[in-house]
Amino acid sequence: MSARSTVRAFFDERTATISYVVSDAATKRAAIIDPVLDYDFKSGHTNTRAADEILAYLRAENLAVQWILETHAHADHLSGARYLQEQVGGQIAIGENIREVQATFKKIYNLERTFLPDGSQFDHLFRDGESFHIGELEARALLVPGHTPADMAYLVDDAVFVGDTLFMPDVGTARADFPGGDAHQLFRSIRRLLELPGDTRMFVCHDYPPASRQPAWESTVAGQRAANIHVRDGVSEGQFVAMRTARDATLEVPTLILPSIQVNVRAGRLPPADANGIAYLRIPINALPTRGQ
Ligand SMILES: [Fe+2]
Repeated sequence: MSARSTVRAFFDERTATISYVVSDAATKRAAIIDPVLDYDFKSGHTNTRAADEILAYLRAENLAVQWILETHAHADHLSGARYLQEQVGGQIAIGENIREVQATFKKIYNLERTFLPDGSQFDHLFRDGESFHIGELEARALLVPGHTPADMAYLVDDAVFVGDTLFMPDVGTARADFPGGDAHQLFRSIRRLLELPGDTRMFVCHDYPPASRQPAWESTVAGQRAANIHVRDGVSEGQFVAMRTARDATLEVPTLILPSIQVNVRAGRLPPADANGIAYLRIPINALPTRGQ
């Protein structure tokens, strides 16, 4: 077990999102994972409070940002990737299947012709199994579709950042009912992650804690295999899919899904401004292919 990597978590209470900075102690190089750009739905204002916390940490620790990694095109928060890149650099990366997600949502939002669903808005698109480095830390991108078709997990040293696949053991797993989602795929992706060594540290992208505990984000592969309420060892794919499908039918659409996705398929850029200099987000009426209630 290596002790070279340092993981720092940032919990955003409004969206229950956990962003991370993982860094290499030897070289002071770092990756930011799933940063948040605050967005107030009522006023249409963005602000950078959450991302600025990350900036303060980077400066205090004297870290140089090499990567800004997105696990997927999030539906519950806007990405702070572009803002952070403007401040500290780094390559914004996501899984190559983002093209499929971009094509789906280009149609739904009727995005401008110049928006190409080719992933070019990102600096790098990861293939399944692709190796990369953060300083001298070994890292690998793993395709884990199911929540969306493009979800990636990032294995860095002895830690895996699992995005929206599984959550803390007492919360279970992510939903699989978004466009392109698939509960069968999600189960197989999670089982793939659970094949990692038992002491692999697992960091989740959200926590929705029961009233009995504070938000948490770190578990282990062994801990998840023993106790995850949805996918512990012994749960079959059929059992999981039946549970997931029934549960997803009861879930509301996330509050920020419509603003979030149109920004996140642009790698955290706002849409181009109109001639008056103001950028607008679009609300497709009766078009999102998911339960609208
Ligand atoms: Fe998500």
